[in-house]
Amino acid sequence: MAATDFLAQPKAELHVHLRGAIPPEFLGALLRKYPPQEALANAPGRHRRLFAGQANIRAALAGHYEENAFFRYDSFDGFLATYLFTSYFVRSIEDFRGLIAAVRRQFCRENIVYAEVTVSVIEYVNQGIPLEALLEALSEEPETPPRVRWIVDLVRNIGPEAAESLLDRILERRPRNLAAVTLGGAEHLFPPAPFERVFAKARGAGLRLTVHAGEALGPESVWDALRILKVDRIGHGVRAVEDPALVAHLAAQRIPLEVCPTSNIRTGIYRSYGEHPARRLFEAGVPLTVSTDDPTFFRVTLSRELSALTALGFSPDEIEGIAANGFRFAFAPPPATPQCGKATPAIRPC
Ligand code: ADE
Ligand code: ZN
Repeated sequence: MAATDFLAQPKAELHVHLRGAIPPEFLGALLRKYPPQEALANAPGRHRRLFAGQANIRAALAGHYEENAFFRYDSFDGFLATYLFTSYFVRSIEDFRGLIAAVRRQFCRENIVYAEVTVSVIEYVNQGIPLEALLEALSEEPETPPRVRWIVDLVRNIGPEAAESLLDRILERRPRNLAAVTLGGAEHLFPPAPFERVFAKARGAGLRLTVHAGEALGPESVWDALRILKVDRIGHGVRAVEDPALVAHLAAQRIPLEVCPTSNIRTGIYRSYGEHPARRLFEAGVPLTVSTDDPTFFRVTLSRELSALTALGFSPDEIEGIAANGFRFAFAPPPATPQCGKATPAIRPC
């Protein structure tokens, strides 16, 4: 099926990072507003070394930002470095509000009527924006679609103690539309288990739980996410396929995976769509949703991601079912499941 087949259809996306969906021209404007060498003036040495190791970032630092060259990396670490680099250019609450508005417009163009958007607030705090202002901006909700619910990324790289105190501060001024927490960042350096207390606290506060697991690490990370963090969904989770007992458990317990095939290929987890395990997971009965993760960084859209499922061996009816799962497994009071291709009374098309 072609991407155009899905464009007009109202869609839900459950795993998409706010900055990951930044329109490239919006990032270009920020890079002009804040000359990169100045924006990085107070960056810690470990970030400078990380950035110096990436050709695409070196070019941007030298003043050559060109989207086709910038959003290219040959590893998960290369992607994470690029992702972190862009956080240095969201430096005021106006930038942050502008980013939200630009991403909402992008969702509208794609007919994404419901999105659970992951936001790494600590990265903006690190650029000098007060947390309170960020949380206030997350509480604002325009009346028009898309309907957005927030998932705060506690960013595993800051460690469990800092993640817990960040969560405490967020809970003090809890944004109206906060649905869940997750952990993004370097799974291979910061596995899930040490975050047990943070996740227990979030659960106790009534938040839903997801975590990036089984992306950079194998099945043991997904087991820990389930048994120790007690998550409701798994971000990625695809490497669960390496353990048949885990696959059976995910299917039996109906734990949905937020599968992002193009992300996995662009970060080098798999070499091609043909190698991607989504089909095997599906056939074993694991509930699947499909998302873009960071559409700008992976040069993909949700319509194209759905279309790519054909190359993974899915039939048109199966793809429709996976698209509908975006509504079915939503964390927030789910909007009425739309009839394919039709607007619903609950959610108007953009
Ligand atoms: N932050 C943004 N995208 C991510 C991903 N795919 N994995 C981990 N952290 C991320
Ligand atoms: Zn992600």
